[in-house]
Amino acid sequence: MDWFAYDFDHPAYFDHYRDKEGDAAYEGSALASMFGLVAGSSVLDLPCGWGRLRPALEARGYRVIGGDLSPLNLQRHRIEYPGPLVRLDFRALPFRTACLDGVFCAFTSWGYFATEEENLRQLQEFARVLKLGGTLLLDLCGRESLERGVASTEGRWVELKDLGYRERVRWSPDRKRIWTERKKGGYSFRHDIWIPTDQEVREFLEAAGLELEDAFGGLHGGPWTLDAERWIYRALKPSRVR
Ligand SMILES: C[S@@+](CC[C@H](N)C(=O)[O-])C[C@H]1O[C@@H](n2cnc3c(N)ncnc32)[C@H](O)[C@@H]1O
Repeated sequence: MDWFAYDFDHPAYFDHYRDKEGDAAYEGSALASMFGLVAGSSVLDLPCGWGRLRPALEARGYRVIGGDLSPLNLQRHRIEYPGPLVRLDFRALPFRTACLDGVFCAFTSWGYFATEEENLRQLQEFARVLKLGGTLLLDLCGRESLERGVASTEGRWVELKDLGYRERVRWSPDRKRIWTERKKGGYSFRHDIWIPTDQEVREFLEAAGLELEDAFGGLHGGPWTLDAERWIYRALKPSRVR
C-alpha cells in the first residue's frame, strides 16, 4: 500500500497533527486571503483532510468542495464540517475540465508520489479542472528552512513525550525526499515526501500549464524568501493560449 494511503488514514494521524486544529483559524484565513478569489467562487479544497481549513474558505464566501483520499478524514469532516465532499485521488480528479474557479492545496500536500510523472500529473489535474483564468494556491514547506530544522536531529530517534511517539527524520540518499518515521504503540508510519527546490516548483507549475502570479514567504503574505518556513505559490490557468 502507498504510504500516504496508510499514514493519513490511521487514527494516530489525528494525534500527530493535533496542534494543527488550533492553527487552523489563523492559517486558513491567511491562506484564503492570498488566494484572492471573489466571493461566490467555486473552490476545491484539495486535499481537505478533516476539513479544518474549510470554515476560513467559507468565511470568504467561497463555495467549497472538499476532496481527499482518506475515508477516515472524510468521515470526520462530514461530522465536524458538513458540506460537499468527494473521495478522490490527486492523479485522476473526478471533475469535468474547466469547471472550478480555484484549487486550494494547503499544508505541504504535493510531492507524495514516488515518481516525477505522478507529481506532475497532480498539478496537471489541478490545471485541468480550473476554468481559464482560475487560480491554484499551493502551500509548501520551504526547503531551506526544513533543512535547517532537521539538521540537529537528522537520523536520530527523538522521543516526543507530549505527543506520545518517537520520531526519526532523514533525507533520502539523493536528498530529494524527506523520510519521517514515527512509532507509537505497535504502529509504525513513514511519510516519504519529495521536497522540491523553488526552481523545481516553478518548473513543474509551468510544465503543468500554469502561470506563476505571485509567491509568498509565509502566512504573513510577505514576499517569497529562500529561508522562509512556508513557500506559498499562486498560479493561474492562463486565459489565453501561450
Ligand atoms: C498534510 S494533510 C493536509 C490536509 C489539509 N490540507 C490540511 O491542511 O489540514 C495531507 C492530506 O492529503 C491526503 N492525501 C494523501 N494522498 C492523497 C492522494 N493521492 N489523493 C488525494 N488526497 C491525498 C491525505 O489523506 C491527507 O488528508
